Parts: sequence; structure tokens; C-alpha cells
Amino acid sequence: PGDGLALTPPMGFNNWNSTHCRAEFNEAMVKGIADIFVAKGLKDAGYQYVNLDDCWALPKRDADGKLVPDPVRFPNGIKAVADYVHSKGLKIGIYTSAGTKTCNTAGFPGALGHEKSDAQQFADWGIDYLKYDNCNNQGVDAKQRYRAMRDALKAASESAGHPIVYSICEWGENKPWEWAGEVGQLWRTTGDISDSWGSMLSIAKQNLPLSQYAGPGHWNDPDMLEVGNGGMTDTEYRSHFSLWSIMAAPLLIGTDLRKATDETYEILGNREVIGVDQDPLGKQGTVVSSAGGRWVIAKEMADGSRAVALFNETDRPQHIATTATGVGLPKSTAYRLRDLWSHKDYNTAGAISATVPAHGTVLYRASADTRWASYPPL
Ligand code: GLA
Repeated sequence: PGDGLALTPPMGFNNWNSTHCRAEFNEAMVKGIADIFVAKGLKDAGYQYVNLDDCWALPKRDADGKLVPDPVRFPNGIKAVADYVHSKGLKIGIYTSAGTKTCNTAGFPGALGHEKSDAQQFADWGIDYLKYDNCNNQGVDAKQRYRAMRDALKAASESAGHPIVYSICEWGENKPWEWAGEVGQLWRTTGDISDSWGSMLSIAKQNLPLSQYAGPGHWNDPDMLEVGNGGMTDTEYRSHFSLWSIMAAPLLIGTDLRKATDETYEILGNREVIGVDQDPLGKQGTVVSSAGGRWVIAKEMADGSRAVALFNETDRPQHIATTATGVGLPKSTAYRLRDLWSHKDYNTAGAISATVPAHGTVLYRASADTRWASYPPL
């Protein structure tokens, strides 16, 4: 919306994919994630937001109509947690719905008709990010509902003196890519992700064609990461993370980092892949070819290079090939290819290819630069 917010896709954590509404979603978790962001170098890698999803509140507002944090999960309230997260140099997000109740069947209060006071309450707590869901919307027009909260957030954040990133979560139902660029910084393009290869693949395929709508301050959101949650192999999780990065998707970690494996940290902490996602040009990658489930996806980068994903959708190894000019690089006598997962450099006269394992992705950064001809050939 032209306010200088989220000039690169938001990065952080959200508890939903790992806990849903289970009891381990609580103050200890939120603080623990903030601690880990700092201790494990994820903050330095760009992860910034620690976001609370559904089920943080009590089902009933108080006598003044205010939202009440669940005293079992958040015995010290939300402001105390926000202060803690801020003390680590991080930011905090919260969740509610553009309806009368949130999505969970327990019936937590939504903000429809309470936009101003709820936005004010969030701003007063120090909230930096709001995910605004679509359940129980009473059939009120989506644009109207999402604009009402945009206006409320703007007023509240101006009076509180800090901006609030606005995440629109209406699951792509009203083609938000066509109207939400002037409403919020990101909009969900699909239904909810789950921790399976099929879900991740289907969401990627729905989000890939929407590249023209993404850019600095306005991003397609194919939902939060499942990396580390156990339903996919690490090869599949590397594909998930590669695809989200080349799509310039928000990178919201959805696993409980307190229990994560070294392999999970290696995926989520890969700064070269994060660099593809966070490139300041802010282009979403586009599909160059996809015949036979052998995908070539290319993303123009600010330095003129291209990120190139060779993604194998099929159940057996595949040779996937494209060319430097085919991904948009200028004609040159030599090109450098950097493999962002193996961290190795190659030179090539123009072929860009790899044998990619089943469900795997080889992610290159390719540049037209003869200085790199000294590297070993691809
Ligand atoms: C919806 C959203 C999810 C999550 C749940 C919480 O399904 O799309 O991301 O926030 O609600 O109930």
C-alpha cells in the first residue's frame, strides 16, 4: 500500500502449523522461539516476526468489549510477551478474524464491528503484525471488511507510533491479488497448507501463476512453512523452502524450533536461499517450463542474476535442463552457476541443468559473468 512496510516478504514464526490450538501454544513457547531466533542466528538471517495465531484469547470479551488473553496460556497478558519479544530486537504479531468469531470452533471473538477498538488494543500492546482471517464473516463484502481493518490499523498505529503489517487471510476466495495491494502487505492465495507433499505441491501450483501481482510491499502468500513438522522428507522440505523463496513468499516458520533437528535448522537457516526470497527487486519467480513435472522456475534478481529452480515433481530422478538465455540472462561467453544448497560454484557456456532426485529441487543462482569461468564446468 505504499507505506514502506514489508519491502521484502515478511520473515518470522507462527505457531499454527505446529500446535494448532493445543496447550503448548503459550507464553513459554513464544518466548522460547524469540530466544532461539537470537541464539541460533535466525534473527541475523532475517527472521523477525514472532506471530501468535488463533486461540490466544478467551471466548468472551470483557465488560468494556475488550479482548481478553487466555490466562492459562498467557498468564501475564499479551503486552508482557510483546515487551519480551521486543527486548530481543524482534517484532510480534497477532491474529483475529474479519468475522464475528475466529475459525476455531471454540468461538473466539472476531473483529467484525469491533475493528477500531481491537486495532487500538493491538497497537497498545505493541503488536507489529496482524493476520486477519475470514471465518464467520456473515456474508459481508470482503473488500469492505478488509478495508475497515486497514483503516483501523492505520489510525491505531499512527497514534501508537509504530507500524503494523497487515496480513489478509481470505484464502484467495475473492481474488485478493486484484485488490489487496492497496489494503495490506500480503494476502493468502489459497486454502490452508498441511504437512504433506500433496498439499505443498498443490499450493505452489496455485500460487505460481500469480507472479505479476507481487512486489515490494504487496506479496502473494501461499501460507506458512511446514518445514520440520515431519510429514515430508528433508528433500521435500528443501523443495518447499526453495519454491517459497523463488516465489518471494513470506517465510513464516511453522515448526516448534525448540524441538527442531539440525537438518531443519540447515534448511530454514540457508542464507543463500533466503537471499533469493529477500532480494530487494521483489520479483516473484515465473515458470519457464513444466513439461512432464520437470519444472524450471526463474526469478530476476536485483544484481541482474537469476535464481533458477529445477524442481522435480515426479517420483523418480529427472534430468532437468534450461539455458542462461532461456531464464532471461543476456548473451555471454560464460556464466557462473552457484548451487545454493551444495554451496558450490560452476561455470557453463549456457546450459543450466542437473539430475534432480524425486521430489527434489536444485536451486542455482546464475549470472552472466566471464570472471567465473575459472570455476569447474557444470
Ligand atoms: C484459518 C487460517 C489458518 C489458521 C486457522 C486458525 O484456517 O487460514 O491459517 O489461522 O484459521 O483457526
